Amino acid sequence: FNVPQAINEKVKSYAPNSEERQLVLEAYKEMYNQEVDIPFYIGGGEIRTGNTIGIYPPHDNKHRIGQYHQAEKQHIELAIQKAAEARVKWAKISWEQRASIFLKAAELLAGPYRYRLNAATMIAQSKNVYQAEIDSACELIDFLRFNVQFMSDIYSNQPLSSAGVWNRMEYRPLEGFVYAITPFNFTAIAGNLPASAALMGNVVIWKPASSQIYSANVIMELFKEAGLPDGVINMVTGSSSMISDVLLNSPNLAGIHFTGSTPVFNSFWKTIGDNINNYKTYPRIVGETGGKDFIWAHPTANAQEVATAISRGAFEYQGQKCSAASRAYIPKSLWNDVRTHILEDINSFKMGSPEDPSNFINAVIDKRAFTKLSGYIEQARKDVDAEIIIGGGYDDSKGYFIEPTVIVTTNPLYETMCTELFGPIITIYVFEDEDWESVLDLVDQTGEYALTGAIFSGDRYVIDAATKKLENAAGNFYINDKPTGAVVGQQPFGGARASGTNDKAGSIWNLLRWVSNRTIKETF
Ligand code: ALA
Repeated sequence: FNVPQAINEKVKSYAPNSEERQLVLEAYKEMYNQEVDIPFYIGGGEIRTGNTIGIYPPHDNKHRIGQYHQAEKQHIELAIQKAAEARVKWAKISWEQRASIFLKAAELLAGPYRYRLNAATMIAQSKNVYQAEIDSACELIDFLRFNVQFMSDIYSNQPLSSAGVWNRMEYRPLEGFVYAITPFNFTAIAGNLPASAALMGNVVIWKPASSQIYSANVIMELFKEAGLPDGVINMVTGSSSMISDVLLNSPNLAGIHFTGSTPVFNSFWKTIGDNINNYKTYPRIVGETGGKDFIWAHPTANAQEVATAISRGAFEYQGQKCSAASRAYIPKSLWNDVRTHILEDINSFKMGSPEDPSNFINAVIDKRAFTKLSGYIEQARKDVDAEIIIGGGYDDSKGYFIEPTVIVTTNPLYETMCTELFGPIITIYVFEDEDWESVLDLVDQTGEYALTGAIFSGDRYVIDAATKKLENAAGNFYINDKPTGAVVGQQPFGGARASGTNDKAGSIWNLLRWVSNRTIKETF
């Protein structure tokens, strides 16, 4: 299986006066000052119902940048029908043709689409240019390129044969459609969940998060320009509950590829269970959900490295990553130094619109997030076992801004040590140095998630002990590094427990979920 060797797309620096900075800011300005009327896409057709919802940047929430149209029940039924029609040819086309479409999409994104998609992510998801570049440019390009490599690894895996017997494995697409449900926080995930299933020969009905529809629309343009046939990926927008209700009740549902919250994923799983007698085949259920990701340090750790991991891991993209560090356990002997460095870092962070690349902190995604996060801050102000040592301010007069906030608690089970907040708040528990081993049990047993985690130590025996004790505490486990920023092809991403099915986005194991194998034995 001859496919191009995948390599990770180089991250551009966006340094002042660089060409890329100029290009992305030009794209930003141009897009910011025109309203876009976003249809939904079924069978290659663009549908506008007139039943619209306005789109506003989170950092400038009265400035309208466009609208999207809400589908009705009959449109979702039409999407099921159009996907089935498209499947007839798509499931049979040779894999090289499918791969070529997605490799072309990667090249278009590395070229002319890069700045448009980055600017869309900056505008509608309030992401700074550096975070937009690693997400909507590099990570999505990597997914598209590496998936082709993973696909060829899968296809080349064949059973043993012998004289007179030829055994073959056929990697067929699933019999039905895949429902892709994607989150607001990573444009790359939004592109990858439908694209990876489609690459393996499946047809997809994709529902992006409402606050990501603006950049999802650019992804649909990208796939179309790359030559994706009509009806292979159908993007639908509108009421989440109505869309899911129709799709999960269809006998043609063959899989869900989900990234989002644990409660929604659980409700999907229940609905699928209730309908299990109605499907043509058992639907594949793949989900990446929440996290309550930890940083744990031993007295032998380097205080500066721990502090950098906290300020980067907790506050990049306002902490709105399922991988974000949101609880930290620091030994007393290290605390003074760690605290000093964290305060230095946070004091250097500027907050404001992503239009100015020097604003490291931008707005949180919407009013709901703002209200929830400011509520936790007010609660911490009242609680005797919590102290806000920096941040704690918030203001939604222009956009949904929440300051990077550090809470220190004397109670390792304090609410914000256990609950996923999905925002720029980290809670820190300072422990007695000699308790480091028992604190590892606490790290393991706190909360319900197991997505990412990081440990810091300079002692190899301690690293070994912590790695073993925390065996089940994180699907992505980092030693002496922050728990965010997994790179496709290098750190396959996903967690277990309430964090999901751990099918590792950007890996061969994920793509294997989108095929149903046929074993063929032929005798001579
Ligand atoms: N894959 C993303 C990260 O590692 C969520 O931060």
